[in-house]
Amino acid sequence: MTDFISLPFYDLFHENGHVPEAREKLPPLLAGIRRSILEIGAGTGLITTSLADWTPAEIFALEPSAGMRAMLLSRLNARPELLKRVTVLPCDALSVELDEPVEAIVMINVMYALEPDYRKRLWPVLATRLEPGGLLVFTWRDGGPPAPRPLQELESQQVGRHTYTVLLEILESSEESCEARYLYRITEGDRVISEEEIAGPAYRPVWETIEGELVGAGFVQADAPEGFLAWRLA
Ligand SMILES: C[S@@+](CC[C@H](N)C(=O)[O-])C[C@H]1O[C@@H](n2cnc3c(N)ncnc32)[C@H](O)[C@@H]1O
Repeated sequence: MTDFISLPFYDLFHENGHVPEAREKLPPLLAGIRRSILEIGAGTGLITTSLADWTPAEIFALEPSAGMRAMLLSRLNARPELLKRVTVLPCDALSVELDEPVEAIVMINVMYALEPDYRKRLWPVLATRLEPGGLLVFTWRDGGPPAPRPLQELESQQVGRHTYTVLLEILESSEESCEARYLYRITEGDRVISEEEIAGPAYRPVWETIEGELVGAGFVQADAPEGFLAWRLA
């Protein structure tokens, strides 16, 4: 696992990254959800606690990474009133077992990590974990993966005397995936305290692919704002 490299940076960068957009666009999509939500890839819980704030639903926060789960549980522990309502599932999405189907499934910023064959197998599994007419919402953007580009700073954040910086290089790109190299750097002034990298594939399926897979698994498209897709189980 390469989590231990990126984990310390996660909340520093994502709280101001994709999370504000998700917090703006998700509440209208989830209006009316009352009973239960399965969140796939809950990460450190940046979205999980918001789901709990927006809805009265019981939440199943699924997260396979032990490091991410530790941060998620720490976040939940800081909100003791949520501890009775949020169950943390320590497994990957394909292995999810629930006592009864849920009303909605939410998956924010996870698709890039799902290898195509895994993703194709996932939709039918999620269909069996949803109530009839249940809602599936996830982040997705059209246009396929980014083109190759040199190393660029994404963002940096000061923490006391240190600066945490994340840089990204796109090494190669194909129709539905790219090879991304991330550098995680901590500096104090000009001195580099640590610099570690993670390289690996990121998946960005195009619309025709996603539509074929979801329709094939029994979903019907519903309205969703830019950056999101919403589907209902037929
Ligand atoms: C970029 S993080 C997003 C976390 C959170 N949803 C958020 O928006 O802050 C992606 C998460 O997906 C999880 N993940 C990766 N592969 C997964 C899989 N097969 N099943 C479930 N979660 C997965 C990772 O462990 C990671 O926590």
